[in-house]
Amino acid sequence: MGATTLEEEIRTLGRERDAVILAHNYQRPEVQEVADFVGDSLYLSRKAIDAPQSVIVFAGVRFMAETAKILNPTKTVLLPDPKAGCGLADSITAEQLRTWKAEHPGAVVVAYINTSAEVKAESDYCCTSSNAIDIVRKIPEDKEILFLPDIFLGEYVRSRTGRNMHLWMGDCPVHAKLRPEHLEQARAAHPGAPILAHPECGCSTQAMGHVDRILSTDGMVRFAEETRAPEVIVATEVGILHRMRKLNPGTKFTPLSEGAICPFMKEIDLVDVRDSLALNRFQIDVPTETATKARRALERMVAA
Ligand code: 13P
Ligand code: SF4
Repeated sequence: MGATTLEEEIRTLGRERDAVILAHNYQRPEVQEVADFVGDSLYLSRKAIDAPQSVIVFAGVRFMAETAKILNPTKTVLLPDPKAGCGLADSITAEQLRTWKAEHPGAVVVAYINTSAEVKAESDYCCTSSNAIDIVRKIPEDKEILFLPDIFLGEYVRSRTGRNMHLWMGDCPVHAKLRPEHLEQARAAHPGAPILAHPECGCSTQAMGHVDRILSTDGMVRFAEETRAPEVIVATEVGILHRMRKLNPGTKFTPLSEGAICPFMKEIDLVDVRDSLALNRFQIDVPTETATKARRALERMVAA
């Protein structure tokens, strides 16, 4: 009998442990390949609810695993490497948010999913890059809005909705480096190639004219599946290229920057996934009071 591969071991353990493996679009290709579902943060939040399994292995980053736990308190949620954080989520604390709220009494707080559970507990709505505009449009027009923590996503939503929004000055260390000048260079070097940009990019609002579509990571994947363009420029984390190239081998997918690599998203490898299933680690727990408060904002996010 041949040797069991790591992938086979993971699949066997997954069945034995009654586990579903969810992987974000930025995960390493081999981790995406072993996952039951791959997608953006909204899709994976919904999958975490729908999955009948009692264990969720979240191959992503901590705020995604925390979200899954808050929405599914009776399920075991495992984050295979506890170092998988998020620089953007770290840009605001619950204490900072309480101070900001006190400066704007009556304002409605919209928190991007890229935040800690404590920050979500202080928020009225959560959103992801795929439904931020819809969520903001649900808020009565006369309300002031505090949007956090990503300033680029916030500027994009404000420009599309025209709403009275105050923006937190946070950014993603990976996307903020993708600047308008990179887009201008790409336009000149690849004439005719559509440019897709994630709304967290430092170029998304200031260089809107250069971008053909501003999309969440799943929005980009859907575009990749359907396009007949010979080449597409992709302004986001490079991990997404694996799925795009697999779904559409006839199109050349070129990253805006080869250096757009999120170190947090690369923490998890196949050994970590195997060990998380074998050793039931690393379990995500959110204190009940925090989870109860955060759940309301998250339920509004998954319903939108
Ligand atoms: P998506 O929801 O578009 O996948 O974005 C998540 C994220 O962390 C982007 O940096
Ligand atoms: Fe966070 Fe940026 Fe990494 Fe997304 S790409 S997980 S926002 S640090």
